[in-house]
Amino acid sequence: MGSHLQLSFLVLVMVTLATFMIPTFAQLTPNYYDKVCPKALPIIKSIVKQAIIREKRIGASLLRLHFHDCFVNGCDGSVLLDDTPSFLGEKTALPNLNSIRGFEVVDEIKVAVDKACNRPVVSCADILAVAARDSVAILGGAQYWYQVLLGRRDAIYASKDAANANLPPPFFNFPQLLASFQSHGLDLKDLVVLSGGHTIGLAKCITFRDRIFNDTHIDPNFAATLRDSCPRRSGDGDTNLTPLDASSPSQFDNTYYKALLHKKGLLHSDQELFKGGDDGGESDRLVQLYSYDPYAFARDFGVSMIKMGNLKPLTGYEGEIRYNCRKVNY
Ligand code: HEM
Ligand SMILES: *[C@@H]1O[C@H](CO)[C@@H](O)[C@H](O)[C@H]1NC(C)=O
Repeated sequence: MGSHLQLSFLVLVMVTLATFMIPTFAQLTPNYYDKVCPKALPIIKSIVKQAIIREKRIGASLLRLHFHDCFVNGCDGSVLLDDTPSFLGEKTALPNLNSIRGFEVVDEIKVAVDKACNRPVVSCADILAVAARDSVAILGGAQYWYQVLLGRRDAIYASKDAANANLPPPFFNFPQLLASFQSHGLDLKDLVVLSGGHTIGLAKCITFRDRIFNDTHIDPNFAATLRDSCPRRSGDGDTNLTPLDASSPSQFDNTYYKALLHKKGLLHSDQELFKGGDDGGESDRLVQLYSYDPYAFARDFGVSMIKMGNLKPLTGYEGEIRYNCRKVNY
């Protein structure tokens, strides 16, 4: 009983600290749509589920959309905007071009939630955050579910240059990856655990060609097999697809980290998280932890996703609630 009270007190203190010391956390809330659009979350989940039944990969694509949204001017739905006469959007930036996908599912969700609530109250930015969570929980099971904070509003501007500057490329080394995450207020642990998003989805040959021909920190048989569908010559098979996590490409689990231990990370940036030297740095240690403890991975992934989802959201009267996720309202 005594320890129970102590625990309750500790939780109270922590919640109080979180509420008053970190104002950006207080602005988004889990029950934002409970009154204004109670059907929003069930509808999003059901459409994501149907979309995954139609095509398994779409869950991965929706998770990545939220990441690419948040890393460019915050989680504000900017990634969804098409080019306009006054700005070039993010869709044609190098990391996104012919690569990000899932826009049709977002459109389908937007139409359905606006219809169910008789007016546009659910932001495109929130749809991305919820669809990412639902994808993870559907493909990984209940242990990967986390509570999404809501109340983001949508940007009225997007920038191709900002997307090129802010999304980390697959050839980055560890210090560059860490610097990229730190520039967004994320830390080493966030980098390692969020890279676990690569437990699902596919990558094109051009994104890992240099790795399978030139990297030394790679399993030789793994590299040889990949070269069958990704030839050395630039232009040959550039768009051929390979799973980021070969052992279970549409299961959200911790096998991505097991592969890293065996030098079987697909992207150069993946393997940068685990070097396996004697020095055993913090990143190596986390990769090891997540490789044998799926519960630690699930718990930390949710925490870091919420942190990423809090990147510079527009709230209150900032931005707008878009009618169509691809266009600003006027
Ligand atoms: C750490 C830096 C990261 C780099 C350098 C990186 C790079 C990449 C690259 C090159 C691809 C393949 C794209 C293609 O070939 O079209 C990819 C796919 C993917 N990324 Fe990342 N990524 C990073 C972090 C993340 C994070 C934080 C998440 C989510 C939490 C994520 C989720 C995904 C998913 C799910 C896919 C597969 C998408 C699909 O199949 O449609 N990535 N990433
Ligand atoms: C590998 O390294 C060589 C020498 O630096 C370079 O010419 C080549 O383009 C790299 N990539 C591949 C796929 O061979």
